[in-house]
Amino acid sequence: MGADILLNIKNLNVVFTGPKGDFHAVKDICFSMGKQKIGIVGESGSGKTVTGRAILKLLPASARISADAIEFNGQDILNKSEKEMRGIRGKGITMVMQDPRYSLNPIRTVGRQIAESYLAHRNVSGKEAVRHTLEMLEAVRIRKPERVYGLYPHEVSGGMGQRIMIAMMLIPEPALLIADEPTSALDVTVQLQLLAILDDLVTRRGMGLIFISHDLELVSSFCDRVIIMYAGRIMEVCEAKDLHQSRHPYTRGLLNCLPRITGNADLLPTLKRDDAWLKASFSY
Ligand SMILES: Nc1ncnc2c1ncn2[C@@H]1O[C@H](COP(=O)(O)OP(=O)(O)O)[C@@H](O)[C@H]1O
Ligand SMILES: [Mg+2]
Repeated sequence: MGADILLNIKNLNVVFTGPKGDFHAVKDICFSMGKQKIGIVGESGSGKTVTGRAILKLLPASARISADAIEFNGQDILNKSEKEMRGIRGKGITMVMQDPRYSLNPIRTVGRQIAESYLAHRNVSGKEAVRHTLEMLEAVRIRKPERVYGLYPHEVSGGMGQRIMIAMMLIPEPALLIADEPTSALDVTVQLQLLAILDDLVTRRGMGLIFISHDLELVSSFCDRVIIMYAGRIMEVCEAKDLHQSRHPYTRGLLNCLPRITGNADLLPTLKRDDAWLKASFSY
């Protein structure tokens, strides 16, 4: 495996066990990436979040994760203990969750939470952590960072909450950031602003990014490569620039389903699904 491979996943499977039997949420996922921007796209329920959380082993006890390999920077993380995983989360890999409001502690100021996230991973003084937190808030383009530092989570808007989460996940300087639909709750202008901030930070810091989204058009304009998921499986992996030439019927369906600003919503084609997609194994 080359030294430039950041993450290597081979045949990742996640099965949830429940009173009604097993549910196979992620099936034989394989991909590897360097310091790149990889998009994971698919309709709701296709297994994007479960894949992201499986990499960090942040799944409920009812989830069984198995794989031939989950390697991060050449280390096997599949067999790491929870204690060892705490060493990986932070400096190694962090994840911005789909709804950041549930990830922030409501009774602590946002600044303190970001500073604590830094202190947990770096051996620095409290004063240095505060200084760096203010810098990080500025890096995600929050104006008046001193004022925002002292706000409680309920006092910030959705867009600002997302930026705060991104600041909190970037401050330990992870080698890989997993961002799970970090912009989908935001309006288009704020969305594009946030993507520009992420793009800039990823390029300047030389990080890897896994960007999870259901918006194929957005992902293809932002990422280097796109993984397309359906029913827990990878349907295809496309270089972003080749996406529009894809011949896979599901990918074509996703492309055609995109609402266009100028289009007529009544004419959106319905996405036809084909069980044959589940039988054909993906090769790359
Ligand atoms: N904790 C859980 N227990 C049981 N099933 C789950 C759990 N979390 C997710 N799933 C199921 O796994 C599938 C994939 O979910 P998810 O990865 O969240 O999809 P998405 O692509 O929308 O992010 C869904 O069918 C979902 O219902
Ligand atoms: Mg999800």
